[in-house]
Amino acid sequence: MMNWIDVGSADQLKVGEMKRVRVQGRKLLLCRTATGHYCVDEMCSHEDYSLWFGSLKNDSIKCSLHGSYFDLISGRPLNAPADCPLRTYPLEVLDGRVRINPDAKA
Ligand code: FES
Repeated sequence: MMNWIDVGSADQLKVGEMKRVRVQGRKLLLCRTATGHYCVDEMCSHEDYSLWFGSLKNDSIKCSLHGSYFDLISGRPLNAPADCPLRTYPLEVLDGRVRINPDAKA
């Protein structure tokens, strides 16, 4: 079953911005890059540290604690020390609204 949840308007974020959202008990991060919107777990897969303190670069997010980058599409870590993927979530933009599916894997 597709469980799409509205997390706000598409223009709430400018390119390069992130926003923390809590959806059904999950701490998630909405990100906007030049290519679109993405949704990933807020917490880094390396240690329990918020990626919200990090930054976006192209289609990746950088953890500011140890410097690992993660691909926003696949969740794959692009450099050490992180070696586990970040969970990513399906997202769609429809009629100017962003919706994510917290149950499915992107
Ligand atoms: S906590 Fe994110 S790279 Fe270490």
